[in-house]
Amino acid sequence: MTEFDRTNWARAEFGQRFIEEADIYVVERRRMLEILGSFYRHFIKDKPGKKILDLGCGDGILTHELLKIDSSLSATLVDGSAEMLERAESRLKGFKGINYVRASVQEMPRDDILRQKFDFIISSLAIHHLSSGEKKELFGRVYSMLSDGGYFLNIDVVLAPAPALDGFYMRLWREWIDERKASPGITDEEPGDIIRRYKDNTDNKPDTLDYQVGALKEAGFQDVDCYYKYGIFTIYGGRKSLRF
Ligand SMILES: C[S@@+](CC[C@H](N)C(=O)[O-])C[C@H]1O[C@@H](n2cnc3c(N)ncnc32)[C@H](O)[C@@H]1O
Repeated sequence: MTEFDRTNWARAEFGQRFIEEADIYVVERRRMLEILGSFYRHFIKDKPGKKILDLGCGDGILTHELLKIDSSLSATLVDGSAEMLERAESRLKGFKGINYVRASVQEMPRDDILRQKFDFIISSLAIHHLSSGEKKELFGRVYSMLSDGGYFLNIDVVLAPAPALDGFYMRLWREWIDERKASPGITDEEPGDIIRRYKDNTDNKPDTLDYQVGALKEAGFQDVDCYYKYGIFTIYGGRKSLRF
């Protein structure tokens, strides 16, 4: 049994529920995908033979956003869940040059598909499931998997650096959900419920933004920054240095 098999994500119905509810509960989900697209257009799109790696890909939504912008890219999608990879495969059928790897991000094989260098490594809402040490290790691995000048971008939840701020960020999250709930066709689950589920779920191991930004710099990344933030929802990343 791998680390991944011990998490809720190993149960197909858990993943199914996430997919159904993500647009309601993930704050500014659409906006964050748009920023991912802008980042791609700005830094990656004009490179020749672009290779993308999507870690904890779920149903492939991130890669799909990029393929809508640029169908010439090739992509490798990694997830620990066979069901999620099946969903990704069905979502992306019709696009060429897509590989699927079933593995936990802590135990990615070092052969074949994953030995190539990637120009853009992306992830969304998966890395907060790793412990602090595992995050650090992953950032080192990501750095080694990038081509020179390649970028890493992570959309994820982070830990507030102080309890008072955590209280405020949870309010922001609740207010966001309340707004969504006002739209037609939304279920009547209490916003407190998702927030409680998030807090109670021991699979969630968020670290502070400071810690993760520091760990990226330690791994060697440059241009490290938080590119977007709304309460606990963030986009951060960096660039591997160019070798001359
Ligand atoms: C919240 S979903 C996000 C999916 C997708 N990135 C998105 O934004 O819609 C988290 C995904 O990460 C995967 N995952 C969680 N922990 C993982 C791990 N340690 N290794 C590989 N995949 C993992 C889950 O199976 C799930 O598909």
